[in-house]
Amino acid sequence: MSKANDLIIRIGGEGGEGIISSGDMIAQAAAREGLEVLTFKTFPAEIRGGYAMYQIRFSHEPILSEGSGFNVLCCFNKEALDVNRKFIEKGSVLIYDYPGGDIEEEQNIEGVHCYPVPMGKIAKEELNTYRSKNMVAMGTISELFSIAKESLRELIEEKFGKKGKEVVEVNFKALDAGAKFARENLKKADPYKMDAGKPQKDVMIISGNEAIGLGGLLAGVKYFSAYPITPATEVAIFLSKYLPKVNGNLVQAEDEIASLANIIGASYGGVKSMTATSGPGLSLMQELIGMASMMEVPIVIADVQRGGPSTGLPTKHEQSDLFLAALGSHGDASKVVISPEGVEDCVYLTVEAHNIAEKYQVPVLVLSDGSLGFRTSSIKKPDPSKIKRVERQKYQPNGNGDKPFERYALTASGVSPMSVPGQAGGNYISTGLEHAPSSAPRYTPENHTAMLDKRFGKLDDLEDFFQPTEADHQDGATLGVITWGSTIGTAREAVKLAREQGVKVAGLYPKLVWPLPLKALEAFAKKYPKILVPEINKQAQLAHVLRMKTDIKPISYNIYGGMPFTPKMIVDKIKELA
Ligand code: COA
Repeated sequence: MSKANDLIIRIGGEGGEGIISSGDMIAQAAAREGLEVLTFKTFPAEIRGGYAMYQIRFSHEPILSEGSGFNVLCCFNKEALDVNRKFIEKGSVLIYDYPGGDIEEEQNIEGVHCYPVPMGKIAKEELNTYRSKNMVAMGTISELFSIAKESLRELIEEKFGKKGKEVVEVNFKALDAGAKFARENLKKADPYKMDAGKPQKDVMIISGNEAIGLGGLLAGVKYFSAYPITPATEVAIFLSKYLPKVNGNLVQAEDEIASLANIIGASYGGVKSMTATSGPGLSLMQELIGMASMMEVPIVIADVQRGGPSTGLPTKHEQSDLFLAALGSHGDASKVVISPEGVEDCVYLTVEAHNIAEKYQVPVLVLSDGSLGFRTSSIKKPDPSKIKRVERQKYQPNGNGDKPFERYALTASGVSPMSVPGQAGGNYISTGLEHAPSSAPRYTPENHTAMLDKRFGKLDDLEDFFQPTEADHQDGATLGVITWGSTIGTAREAVKLAREQGVKVAGLYPKLVWPLPLKALEAFAKKYPKILVPEINKQAQLAHVLRMKTDIKPISYNIYGGMPFTPKMIVDKIKELA
């Protein structure tokens, strides 16, 4: 690997130049070589044009975040160089399209290994297709940093095979041409090299969005309905391939409201169901979330958050739907919100989301985000036989003696058995109206009070059923970091780095963000008087929720530029406060 056993390659260029394809291939090739991989991509909302970036981090050790900066920057155009110039550090590598592209001058940056490669020119003049410029660049990168060309060739075949034999052939030639150029013209002076790891059979490389789909399959989902929306559409694309294989069904609805109505109906019919959307879709779903809460129908909604409000920043990262997820919908609507930290979490927390939805008969929202949804990571293949599935309490005919079925019976746990439509003796009506235990509409003060207490009270033991919080204590620390979602990985890395620099700091990483895991939060806050809450939104949403429900007085650290934190940013803040 690199001298630090941790290599980060960033590729930047124009949307449409194949930045994403080349980054994906390098990541896949490294994973096939047995390395841990974590990627980050960001691109404009337009189909063509604008700055697109793909970053791949490789290591022999598990990777927690995108990292701070990069070791290797490969620029396909001037814009990519302009955007990244201020982040180029001494000792790093710059590969850039020169001569022949729009970068007009040879780059000579002090302390930086600068490798000019006429990638566009080679593609145009030697291969007669500018399209393959990205594969020329990949050939150069693979030669310089010892990335297995065999894996890259396999991936070219897999990726472009459907575009025809000629496309595959010309890309093979481009790969070879880029490697040949590097061998014959570049004098490697940098220390970076990817040492293959031990290829592992039980590892897969998968995106956060695909992992949510996989989690749904493992949980036993048989019905999925959604309306396409960036950055969540990949969940539907994944499930459209695999759901039919388990006799499941997927319906692309006419809009987000219909998609939620569809899954509520399917779940009412006894079928485990889910949907996936992003902020604008979640806004539209609010009324029906309240209805699912009132009907006590188990459903799971994955919200892959993006920059908002409104259409906002469709392809950019933000953690700004917590208020909407936790507090949205009119009236007092009980629901659960959980938030995964990484790709592996997307699998298992989606399973947990279904387990919670089924056990408590409640809507559960899984808050992922743009950076996590698009991120690919190598994870251990889940073993379906080890997955614990919780099923809803089902109505047992005659289980109640001679008493008629009461769908909303006031039980000690607050959860009452559900029948399926048509089940003998299990008839009931399910609407958005407040209801008596029998399910018939009833609006008396006593009944509404009892039913609200039932719908909220049933979640009282949630923190014990789903141990959602991991505490990383440190003796002598006065500062603790609490954060959520994909910022957890970055915070974990920051805490580790800060400790390596002699700073005492602890971390608490809640995966349940509504209702809050109060026992864990309060115990942590008792130990560490200063609590830092980094999160990617303007309003300090988790910090507000903490203030609302606990005695914690968080010190907020918020960014909202469409990009995730780097570990370094959080380390600097920790040092300032510790
Ligand atoms: N040879 C042949 N084809 C190649 C190639 C090569 N060497 N390299 C890339 N391509 C193809 C890709 O297969 C892809 O084709 P497809 O469109 O048929 O899948 C296409 O060129 C684009 O390449 P890709 O690597 O996927 O993306 P990119 O880095 O060029 O960036 C995006 C393009 C991803 C930024 C852009 O297309 C996009 O999707 N933008 C976001 C749109 C969005 O979600 N908007 C929000 C709406 S609310």
